[in-house]
Amino acid sequence: MIRLTLIQGDCLKVLPKLSDESIDAVITDPPYNIGKADWDNVNIDFFRKWLKECKRIVKHTILLFCSHIFVKDIRNICEDELGLKYKMMLIWDFREKCFTPNYNYKCGFDTILFFVKTDDYTFNRPYDYSQCWNILKFTRVQSNRKEGNKAANMKYHPTQKPTDLMKHLIKIHSNEGDTILDPFLGSGTTMKACLELNRNCVGIEISKEHCDIARKRLNWGSSLGNVQFNYYAKEGYKC
Ligand SMILES: C[S@@+](CC[C@H](N)C(=O)[O-])C[C@H]1O[C@@H](n2cnc3c(N)ncnc32)[C@H](O)[C@@H]1O
Repeated sequence: MIRLTLIQGDCLKVLPKLSDESIDAVITDPPYNIGKADWDNVNIDFFRKWLKECKRIVKHTILLFCSHIFVKDIRNICEDELGLKYKMMLIWDFREKCFTPNYNYKCGFDTILFFVKTDDYTFNRPYDYSQCWNILKFTRVQSNRKEGNKAANMKYHPTQKPTDLMKHLIKIHSNEGDTILDPFLGSGTTMKACLELNRNCVGIEISKEHCDIARKRLNWGSSLGNVQFNYYAKEGYKC
């Protein structure tokens, strides 16, 4: 039985309700000030608050997407303030052909930082040697207007991550039956990947609209009895 728990609310209010070490790995794509939307307008103190809670809740691994601009600050928080161990920086290479109008390079990657809380963490070596590198090549989810876009790759969210990229990370950093937390679930990509890989998932998302989209993507409530769906509206989650 796989359990999917979706909580609509501000993760700064919801995370304190989750028990110590109740989650195997945090794998998340937080807002990081790249000017994509209103919810993207955050400061480094916001990172400090949610990362501190995640460290308490998680058993071993924290993996977070971030812009290269914030790597230094996030490493300072995680290593110096929270005592997490930095393991690796992954690069998600989403290179696309595009025109760059500025006197600078066009950034064709996102950074994913990998921290651990203990040396006893899950790391399933990829079966395929070519997948062992820290440079991950996955095409960005394209606008729905593009021809030939299949339902599996529909774009539901401005910063939606490819499901295959999330599955790649989840396979390496957890085992079947483990529980993954994503405090910034967006359109539900992490949860969809967990469902496809038999992992439990706890997702938090502040926007009701995005929660509705996530539930639609996950066919919320319909399963053959092997998935338990729990939805809590407006931070109404009790541990
Ligand atoms: C970068 S997006 C995640 C996109 C996701 N990876 C996907 O594939 O759809 C970050 C999400 O965090 C949500 N968010 C922003 N602040 C939040 C908060 N305080 N608590 C919970 N969610 C928040 C935003 O609404 C947004 O959907």
